[in-house]
Amino acid sequence: MAIHSSDTELLNGTAKSRILVTCPKQIPPYLAQELEALDFPIAEIAPAGVFTSGTMHDCYKLNLHLRTGHRVLFQLARFYVRTPDDLYKSLSKIAWEDIIPTDGYVSVISSVETEAISNTMFANVKCKDAIVDRIRAKCGSRPDSGSDTSKAVVFVYWKGLHCNVYLDTSGESLSKRGYRSMPGQAPMRESLVAATLMATKWDRTSPFVNLMCGSGTIAIEAALMALGQAPALLRENFSFMHLCGYSPTTWVNLRDEARAMLSRSKAAQNQPFLVTASDISSASIAAAEHNAKAAGVAEYIRFQRCDFAETEVPSASDGASPVVMLNPEYGERMGEEAKLEDTYKRIGDFFKQQCGGYRGYVFTGNMHLAKKIGLKASRRHEFYNADIECRLLEYELYSGTRRVFGE
Ligand SMILES: C[S@@+](CC[C@H](N)C(=O)[O-])C[C@H]1O[C@@H](n2cnc3c(N)ncnc32)[C@H](O)[C@@H]1O
Repeated sequence: MAIHSSDTELLNGTAKSRILVTCPKQIPPYLAQELEALDFPIAEIAPAGVFTSGTMHDCYKLNLHLRTGHRVLFQLARFYVRTPDDLYKSLSKIAWEDIIPTDGYVSVISSVETEAISNTMFANVKCKDAIVDRIRAKCGSRPDSGSDTSKAVVFVYWKGLHCNVYLDTSGESLSKRGYRSMPGQAPMRESLVAATLMATKWDRTSPFVNLMCGSGTIAIEAALMALGQAPALLRENFSFMHLCGYSPTTWVNLRDEARAMLSRSKAAQNQPFLVTASDISSASIAAAEHNAKAAGVAEYIRFQRCDFAETEVPSASDGASPVVMLNPEYGERMGEEAKLEDTYKRIGDFFKQQCGGYRGYVFTGNMHLAKKIGLKASRRHEFYNADIECRLLEYELYSGTRRVFGE
């Protein structure tokens, strides 16, 4: 039933519980690295998430600092269930009146893999009924409920005979940092970009060049990482703020600490531009500049509107591990692929001729087009962009002439 401690102890941050941080497929190893760097133990790496443990206040910290995670789920209970009625009865035993304010709002999300039920909507309704019926019985009134995930969110995972009940402390995906009000064409998710940047092993001080920057996600996430800016510093709302026992003081202290770290890191920053970003489209450059400003990193990114092959690449000798990275279109519609073949071939030429001394990375979902680059990839990192299987191809660029930035 309710595990470990009383619900009040779980919510006021004095008791630990199991925490599941969810993320897209292929990203768990990067998420585990982030959790370890934040001093959280790794209990288990799952296909689309990582299990750790901590208090509710630790969840605040994870929401603020994780770049590759989507939702931080704090475990409340686990039990055996055979039927939807068992689910209702077991959930009714949890003291929801100590968890969700009667004048609040709750949304239930479930993932169900059991023969007892075929429809997650039915499970959601059963869970929601158990929660609100219990609160009404104990308090005389009940919170509102519905599909809005910006307030309290309960996540129920029912597989076989095992049911795990979590409080989703994030609500909206942590990938939504709050800076990308102009998304542009086919933008990559911020969390996916963060994982691909980790895969490049960029040292965060050497030159970083993002060709075909679109709305600027790669360039902006690179600058945020280099500055050590907590990714959720701009977000105003998290689901943990809508639970009983929410401590605004704890949250404000964590946020102020992150802001102070950022100010120190900005003061220590002595490079004029950490990142170079270019795109052929004026609309893309305008969107990228707007988003970079919103993220607070515009002054660290040098934007250029040009064909990617005209980008001024900083000297590779300005750092130990310079990186050039791009996410070209990969032609999901008929006829587009043929037109892109030449672009991919030109990427290979540009890498060879202008990026000597760099490591080059191409993120694409089209392996046929990737072959047109004409260089041998030294590594292929697997990722998913929504449901599309993609690769981050890595190229060691040893030779060739290079135009040096500023010449
Ligand atoms: C798939 S989008 C990049 C999206 C980006 N990763 C993001 O998250 O917003 C590809 C971008 O390549 C740009 N582009 C296409 N051909 C180009 C070229 N020859 N030179 C420079 N940019 C180009 C497009 O304008 C578009 O913004």
